[in-house]
Amino acid sequence: MRVLIINASPFQRRSNTSLLLNAFISGLNECGSKVELFNLVNLTIHPCRGDLNCWFRARGKCIQRDDMDKLYEPFTNADAVIFSTPVYCDGVPGQLKVMMDRLVAGGDPHLEIRDDHSRHPVTLRQQSQKFALIASCGLWELGNFDPMIMHLKAFCNNIGFTFCGSLLRPHAFAMKNRPINDILKAAKCAGKSFGETGDIPEAYSVVVKRDIVSREEYINEVNNKVTSLIH
Ligand SMILES: Cc1cc2nc3c(=O)[nH]c(=O)nc-3n(C[C@H](O)[C@H](O)[C@H](O)COP(=O)(O)O)c2cc1C
Repeated sequence: MRVLIINASPFQRRSNTSLLLNAFISGLNECGSKVELFNLVNLTIHPCRGDLNCWFRARGKCIQRDDMDKLYEPFTNADAVIFSTPVYCDGVPGQLKVMMDRLVAGGDPHLEIRDDHSRHPVTLRQQSQKFALIASCGLWELGNFDPMIMHLKAFCNNIGFTFCGSLLRPHAFAMKNRPINDILKAAKCAGKSFGETGDIPEAYSVVVKRDIVSREEYINEVNNKVTSLIH
């Protein structure tokens, strides 16, 4: 399986999200998937200009020449797309949203009704493409992912991708100084399973998002750390 991974964490290898992503990738590698990883922090992608030149003048091609040119081909031909991202302000980081906007260039301007919803047509190829999410956030509750998940599921519906599962890590800072071998093992198994079947079994997602500490303990720990850093 050809898997395109977009990593939106600016920290890359040192990041909370990458702890999960690296384990997931080692699972993908184990089953022979072809992995292409792009770190958005290393790419220059300008915001969409909104003139829809890509739809009405140069069909399917954005007027801007920047690093987005490296992504159109993998987005078209990958069997699966993974977004690996922190939650920023209850959604995806700005760099990732800018990249998502620029994918509109490859869309079809016509409208049709799909799933009782007015949408742009998608190709059979897009309908066969799988999508999965790996995400971490700093606040304690799992519900902090809800707005992002709702957004990304809507994005998948519009672009034609099938949302196949997620690995979510709330109160992610608690991972730094506690045993999380079961979480990393589940993330690796999820990668292997995704590479083999195109799905993330719920059993692995449940382990990855498990409570690491109580909310009270986490708040105390974060506050102590913050106080020591500020004073
Ligand atoms: C600008 C910014 C906004 C953030 N907004 C949220 C938020 O809305 N909710 C939340 O739970 N965490 C928020 N966080 C915390 C990150 O989601 C969290 O630290 C995450 O694990 C970082 O992942 P990374 O280390 O892979 O970059 C925010 C962090 C930053 C820098």
